[in-house]
Amino acid sequence: MINLDLTGKHALVCGGSHGIGHAAALQLAAQGADITLLARSREALDAALATLPRRHDDQQHASIAVDMRDREALRAKVEATVNAHPVQILVNNTGGPPGGPAHLARPDEFLAAFEQHLIAAQILVQVLLPGMQGAGYGRIINVISTSVKEPIRNLGVSNTIRGATASWAKTLAGELAAHGITVNNVLPGFTRTRRIEQLVAERSASSGASREDIEAAMLAQVPAGRFAQAAEIANVIGFLASPAAAYVNGINLPVDGGRTQSL
Ligand SMILES: NC(=O)c1ccc[n+]([C@@H]2O[C@H](COP(=O)([O-])OP(=O)(O)OC[C@H]3O[C@@H](n4cnc5c(N)ncnc54)[C@H](OP(=O)(O)O)[C@@H]3O)[C@@H](O)[C@H]2O)c1
Repeated sequence: MINLDLTGKHALVCGGSHGIGHAAALQLAAQGADITLLARSREALDAALATLPRRHDDQQHASIAVDMRDREALRAKVEATVNAHPVQILVNNTGGPPGGPAHLARPDEFLAAFEQHLIAAQILVQVLLPGMQGAGYGRIINVISTSVKEPIRNLGVSNTIRGATASWAKTLAGELAAHGITVNNVLPGFTRTRRIEQLVAERSASSGASREDIEAAMLAQVPAGRFAQAAEIANVIGFLASPAAAYVNGINLPVDGGRTQSL
């Protein structure tokens, strides 16, 4: 039987107060894991924390309010959590960079996205790694984008940073496998969250087209004919976090209703 049980495991779910991160936290908690949510807004974290299920009496959930662009605070707050309760599962996820073509992006926009996505991820991995190695069990799951396989028009900064994150992850996958640690990337397609609402609003404002027309044009690219629910991305994260996925390592997994054309 497929083993999805995460009882006794502790998951740090970044960007866990909304959207895909929140759905991932719900899924991992339902599989029995203790959850620590991480995001900036304390209010949103408290609201998300209250939704997490407990499958057994000693399952504990917590949260960390910190900006992933603040290196020192990120390291200090996560270290304090990990020292008290080692983490075996990292869902490396955060807000997406603003849209726009690459040639118009200010150099600072690339730096800000690099800091929030790649530098933050590197800090988290370095803080969490001793706990994963000690347990002989680690799951590093990066929520990236299908732009790893096919750049998406008008997401110049995002496309660039996603490629760097995917290369970083593939490199780590080769380095850490011998410790029972896997590193995989989940590539969401168009998913109903704040992020997609923001991108549709930006495209509508810059093109003059209605939001409905923008969404219809996006859906025309999706064989499934609909946007994903965040829970559908979370299902895949739940599998990759589980003992059942021990031999899945170093992959880019699109969850996009068939939109990505490359093999
Ligand atoms: N939705 C889609 O269609 C789609 C498609 C492909 C890829 N993605 C990518 O998937 C990831 C998650 O997207 P989503 O749609 O779930 O977004 P979302 O609903 O906007 O959620 C983003 C989460 O990240 C947190 N966050 C944002 N900036 C942060 C920061 N600087 N430090 C710490 N936490 C931060 C947010 O909380 P706070 O604001 O309180 O910090 C929130 O919990 C993004 O990278 C996005 O680009 C999404």
